[in-house]
Amino acid sequence: MLRLGMIGTSWISHEFINAAHQTGHYRLQAVYSRKMKTARDFCDPYEAISCYTDLVDFLDSELDVVYIASPNSLHYAQAKLAILAKKHVIIEKPAVTSPAEWKELVKLAKDHHVYLFEAARNYQEAAFQVVKDFLSGQEILGANFTFAKYSSKLPALLAGEMPNIFSDLYAGGALMDLGVYCLYLAIGFFGAPDSSHYTAHQLPNSVDLYGQGILIYPEFQVAIQAGKNITSHLPAEIYTKTGTLTLNAVAAIDQAQFVSHSGEVIDLPIEPCSHVMQEEAEAFALAIAGQKETAYLEWLKTAEQVHETLYQMRQSAGIQFKDKKE
Ligand SMILES: NC(=O)c1ccc[n+]([C@@H]2O[C@H](COP(=O)([O-])OP(=O)(O)OC[C@H]3O[C@@H](n4cnc5c(N)ncnc54)[C@H](OP(=O)(O)O)[C@@H]3O)[C@@H](O)[C@H]2O)c1
Repeated sequence: MLRLGMIGTSWISHEFINAAHQTGHYRLQAVYSRKMKTARDFCDPYEAISCYTDLVDFLDSELDVVYIASPNSLHYAQAKLAILAKKHVIIEKPAVTSPAEWKELVKLAKDHHVYLFEAARNYQEAAFQVVKDFLSGQEILGANFTFAKYSSKLPALLAGEMPNIFSDLYAGGALMDLGVYCLYLAIGFFGAPDSSHYTAHQLPNSVDLYGQGILIYPEFQVAIQAGKNITSHLPAEIYTKTGTLTLNAVAAIDQAQFVSHSGEVIDLPIEPCSHVMQEEAEAFALAIAGQKETAYLEWLKTAEQVHETLYQMRQSAGIQFKDKKE
């Protein structure tokens, strides 16, 4: 049983705990928060959890794996401390704000004999592999991936506040928050693009509210859209020489249907999962148990390519985060 520690006390941390507990591989052990009352309130639904406001004490405690769901720009430093304390680390997406940070964490994790995971849940869904296997026999002509959801924090932004998710200090924005899922599909299915571009509607701090990007491959292109001030109901589409594969969504994929140019319909065998984070929690536990060595190396490589592309797209749009040497 993996003893699980949490950094970050918002709703997504509760979701991960529920998913992790459902796998039967994890037991919540400790929670870190900046405030003791927040940590205690967070622990209320669970039993016998240790609460910490000192990150070093938390990391020195008897934990096997730390889940990090703090604002994006804090992930790197917190993950580094956790790895140095010899804990396995699961970092919420986007795990880092540059490919250099990712490479450094990968090396550090290797040197300290711990596992490092980016919690890109759509990449860890069983559906992802079903779709990838189907595409392996197809000639790809292009794809279109959109993830746009009106943010519950937008009214606060419009009222003059600066929620973390729109802040340049906390590495917010549509591309970082939701575009990263589109990149995981594109790069997970097709590999790293030759180049990429992004153009967006940006706040005065340069952070993007809604944008459109293009990944350029030798033989085709992939269009992506990410938005936090709009909601899109578009499905994801992958175009092949013989037809179109339509996915119900970019994440939480529970339907995938191929329609050939001659009208033949193939429904891919996809089993919906009881919790959208359960498959990643399960996969990470199996990797820590040493049962996914080949896949683990592939995950690290894909994450590196995702962060190289994310970074290149941000640079092309002029999205700059504070306190980052870029
Ligand atoms: N996989 C998914 O479906 C999914 C969904 C939502 C979010 N996420 C990811 O989860 C991460 C957290 O997102 P979120 O929306 O939950 O973020 P958030 O609410 O802004 O912050 C999360 C936690 O970080 C701590 N925190 C907040 N502001 C901080 C600050 N200024 N300095 C230090 N700590 C601070 C808080 O914990 P304490 O007050 O206890 O210290 C808070 O509960 C992000 O990386 C996001 O992309 C993933």
